[in-house]
Amino acid sequence: MAPTRVIIDTDPGVDDAVAIMLALASPELEVLALTTVVGNVELEKTTLNARRLLTLAGRSDVLVGRGCATPIGGASGTAAEVHGQDGLGDLAWPEPSVQESSEDAIEMIYRLAQEAPLTLVAIGPLTNIATLLQKHPDVVTSIERVVIMGGASFEGNVTAAAEFNIWVDPEAAEIVFAGAWKLDIMPLDLTHQAFLNDDDLNFLRGLDSEVGDRLAAMLEPYAKFHEEWVGNRDLIMHDAMAVYEVIDPTAIQKDGVKADVETSGVHSRGATWFTRSFHHAESSTRVGVAVHNASFVKLLRERLATYPAKN
Ligand code: RIB
Ligand code: CA
Repeated sequence: MAPTRVIIDTDPGVDDAVAIMLALASPELEVLALTTVVGNVELEKTTLNARRLLTLAGRSDVLVGRGCATPIGGASGTAAEVHGQDGLGDLAWPEPSVQESSEDAIEMIYRLAQEAPLTLVAIGPLTNIATLLQKHPDVVTSIERVVIMGGASFEGNVTAAAEFNIWVDPEAAEIVFAGAWKLDIMPLDLTHQAFLNDDDLNFLRGLDSEVGDRLAAMLEPYAKFHEEWVGNRDLIMHDAMAVYEVIDPTAIQKDGVKADVETSGVHSRGATWFTRSFHHAESSTRVGVAVHNASFVKLLRERLATYPAKN
């Protein structure tokens, strides 16, 4: 079976980094490009981080397209306290050899979609995806599916109502949710079922590879933040769920829903509502509801182990 053509729209981001390294090591996917967006940190940093990760993976064949610096709904906030000031755990990095393209994210996605059907995997705020839809409405005919990490069926992680990717740009999410395309949403209530622990960090260190070392090093401060915030070191793999779903769509149970987002509430701005009634069972929008963490971790370990050991 031919690999799925994929573009990953991302705001790296420590959990973005794990998702990207998983995607690049998975033969089920042909990763054409990383397109960058403001989110965990500013666009300048998310774009540099995309270059760093592709250089680390030895993947100069993958394009880097710079996207939007400001959310459609206006400036909101970043998550540097979670991901570090540089977005990748504040490690020392060499100057990346992978360069960004002169083509911006929106035109890159549109062009690549015209060449052959592709799947968009959005693991940051939806600013680029909404802008793509506004500038090129016909793109829906060549995008096979949009798979996002975002939203929450119950409680958010920035406010009680809002999950970060939606909170940053609710107006963009409203546009994407209304798009005439297949949309699969991996919300917090799903992603919290998928996490790494200290055994997995030790596994990564034991790979004796540059990739394993760097992922373990950037995940350590991410674990410390979670320990301070919620009292455990569970490394929640939010973004990897969107990649995992494209690698193996059967791995994540999904329900048809009507998806709405709050853009105007004083306390509820960025909240997502997934109506699951039987009216929407066959909806083109689905929400992830269940994943088996041990199966996910097994596949993640296998794929990360394929990166070359340090010579
Ligand atoms: O709420 C989790 C999401 O916000 C993830 O995409 C993470 O990278 C942060 O951007
Ligand atoms: Ca992200």
